[in-house]
Amino acid sequence: MVRLRRAAGRDLAALAALEQTVFSGDRMAPRQFRHHLSAPSSDLVVARSGTDLLGYALLFRRAGSRVGRVYSIAVADAARGQGLGARLLQRLESAARAHGLTEMRLEVRKDNAGALALYQRRGYQIFGERAGYYEDGCDAWRLAKSLLPPRRRARVGHAPRTPDPRKTR
Ligand SMILES: CC(C)(COP(=O)(O)OP(=O)(O)OC[C@H]1O[C@@H](n2cnc3c(N)ncnc32)[C@H](O)[C@@H]1OP(=O)(O)O)[C@@H](O)C(=O)NCCC(=O)NCCS
Repeated sequence: MVRLRRAAGRDLAALAALEQTVFSGDRMAPRQFRHHLSAPSSDLVVARSGTDLLGYALLFRRAGSRVGRVYSIAVADAARGQGLGARLLQRLESAARAHGLTEMRLEVRKDNAGALALYQRRGYQIFGERAGYYEDGCDAWRLAKSLLPPRRRARVGHAPRTPDPRKTR
């Protein structure tokens, strides 16, 4: 059984090892993981099966902002395609809601079709891009998702921009 929980000091070595195998660039250093274990503005979640670390996800929050930023999600190669990435993302969204956040944002490499599919299937929409965002010069899509229920979303200006079909010819 795969369990998700807040990361702790005993996860640090495995987190650093997973980061090495999953990413070829823009890696988080072990001291950054250590920092995010206890940083008040971070939610670092791990997925464990017994002693194996199968994945992690990291959310950043900022004081005074209602927007959370999905900084990273990683799933070990052998555990992919079984819904774990989606579970980790959902856990970050729950953490964001618990802190009163109303929107999630993230960047994803334009050449990362798998991650883009994960986010889009979970309601994230492209709203911009960042040129040369990654170490190797790859561009990023910027994605966002409202955490508000649809009725409140309309009131605070998150309504979809597509026109109401009843008003078009
Ligand atoms: C992206 C990543 C986190 C997905 O993890 P995962 O556990 O395999 O994803 P899931 O099994 O939860 O899949 C969720 C959805 O994403 C989509 N998806 C995931 N990987 C995909 C792929 N390689 N190709 C196409 N779609 C993919 C699927 O459509 C799936 O939707 P569905 O279940 O409704 O069909 C994982 O592939 C990974 O760690 N990649 C390397 C690190 C990375 O790129 N992280 C994201 C950027 S920070």
